[in-house]
Amino acid sequence: MREDDAEALLDIFSDPIATRYFGVIFDRPRMDEWVRNNLEHEKQYGFSLLSVILKENGEVIGDCGLETDKIDGQTVVGIGFDFRRLYWGKGYATEAALAILKYGFTQYEFDSISCWIDPENTPSQRVAERIGMTVEKYVARGGKKYALYSIKRKDWKIE
Ligand SMILES: CC(C)(COP(=O)(O)OP(=O)(O)OC[C@H]1O[C@@H](n2cnc3c(N)ncnc32)[C@H](O)[C@@H]1OP(=O)(O)O)[C@@H](O)C(=O)NCCC(=O)NCCS
Repeated sequence: MREDDAEALLDIFSDPIATRYFGVIFDRPRMDEWVRNNLEHEKQYGFSLLSVILKENGEVIGDCGLETDKIDGQTVVGIGFDFRRLYWGKGYATEAALAILKYGFTQYEFDSISCWIDPENTPSQRVAERIGMTVEKYVARGGKKYALYSIKRKDWKIE
């Protein structure tokens, strides 16, 4: 991800439909801050959310990558994915998430990779299920309930 990807990513994070499970809509300064935080995460952990670029037109169509959060007192590594609405329903999120899962399990020693999802966010849950994740438990994050989807290294098969 580069700082100037904020423009394209704002198309997701300022969209009331795309953000309906986030409870917050970004303006440009908040989007810039989000990108900077992600780049800081990259420096600290060596991985972060990546910008997804469509080969055929060179456009940034979304983000997908690895992020971390403290859940039940433990640092959990998760897959994140957010796509511009114009590019939903084409399999791009699933394709990107499968590549990130492979990257996570081949480049790092993680025993499992997770994804925390609002239980109402059906499209996101479908992506998690298509890449082989199942619900491990329900957890609280920032006062909200999330389904913690996970896949263990031993259950992951190279596509
Ligand atoms: C979550 C999100 C990325 C899912 O997007 P999506 O378009 O449903 O997921 P994909 O890109 O993998 O596309 C899969 C859909 O495309 C269809 N599709 C069409 N062509 C396809 C192809 N060649 N390969 C695979 N799927 C294809 C699939 O049938 C599937 O539709 P279905 O779920 O109705 O069966 C999207 O809803 C989003 O960005 N939401 C806002 C941000 C968000 O909530 N992020 C997740 C936070 S946890």
